[in-house]
Amino acid sequence: MPSLTLAERASLVGPLDYKVLKTIYSLHRNHEWIRTSELVEETGLSLRELQPVLVKLYDLRLLSKQIVTGEHSYRITFTALDILAIKKLYVDKVLKSLGIVIGVGKESEVYMGYNFSDEPVVVKFHRVGKRSYKNIRKIRNISKNKDWSIISVENAEKEYHALSCIKKNYGYVPEPFSNAYNAVVMELVEGNELYRSELDDPRGVLDQIISTVRIAYNECKMIHGDLSEYNVLVRDNTAYVIDWPQWSSTDNEDLLVRDIDHILAYFIKRYGIEENTEKILEYIKGKT
Ligand SMILES: Nc1ncnc2c1ncn2[C@@H]1O[C@H](COP(=O)(O)OP(=O)(O)OP(=O)(O)O)[C@@H](O)[C@H]1O
Ligand SMILES: [Mg+2]
Repeated sequence: MPSLTLAERASLVGPLDYKVLKTIYSLHRNHEWIRTSELVEETGLSLRELQPVLVKLYDLRLLSKQIVTGEHSYRITFTALDILAIKKLYVDKVLKSLGIVIGVGKESEVYMGYNFSDEPVVVKFHRVGKRSYKNIRKIRNISKNKDWSIISVENAEKEYHALSCIKKNYGYVPEPFSNAYNAVVMELVEGNELYRSELDDPRGVLDQIISTVRIAYNECKMIHGDLSEYNVLVRDNTAYVIDWPQWSSTDNEDLLVRDIDHILAYFIKRYGIEENTEKILEYIKGKT
């Protein structure tokens, strides 16, 4: 059923299907392919009860299937992980419905959604794919045995944690509302990326970005690690620094220098605003 949207697929997943998906996800902490016999044991369902659920989930493309040691074995797909998140956000009364896709990144899909007061929100689904998997493992020193679904969930938790800390300390980021599985729900910023914005007050926007980096560094002990004109949104001449899942600790000073170099290079090139990198770095580290 390839033409169904994520929201439509989510609506077809009933309580029993949800229970089986959740069980498979939790078993991924141990290994990739989950055997039918393990599922019988873990869910407490009989083979006769379980089989139609597995067929349905496979047809909905929420499971992949393979024979392992002579037994049908399953793993969840990205879409299944998204659906686990949607269901939990619904039960938690955070997300009433899902809308259109507003951004597709290398490691995420960003949707618009609505909360229970019918206000628009953003839902970012982290999808650390096989393609980027080897690289990410190398860069972030991730253990070989970790499943991509677990890494995607950890990335969402990391991003939510960063947004929460920075927002609490009055940095310029979208307000985070909740986190479930691989999803982060946050404020919708109805603006454009910095590279697509024509700023009336470029110095003011640069100051907001630098002060956000300073708050992240001093109050949250975090360095963004991928700061650029593509990861800043601008609405009414106010900056919102987005895309935090890869943040690293303040031990990693090279990353801070690289972030500042990127953003200052953009403001020189586009607006002719020259700043002294050393002075800005000292300011961020709280030395001035
Ligand atoms: N809070 C938000 N409000 C409005 N739009 C958003 C918000 N968060 C993300 N977006 C949109 O989704 C796009 C991708 O988001 P983000 O940069 O966080 O994800 P990503 O997967 O890291 O993307 P990339 O790989 O392109 O860097 C953004 O460029 C922006 O257009
Ligand atoms: Mg981005």
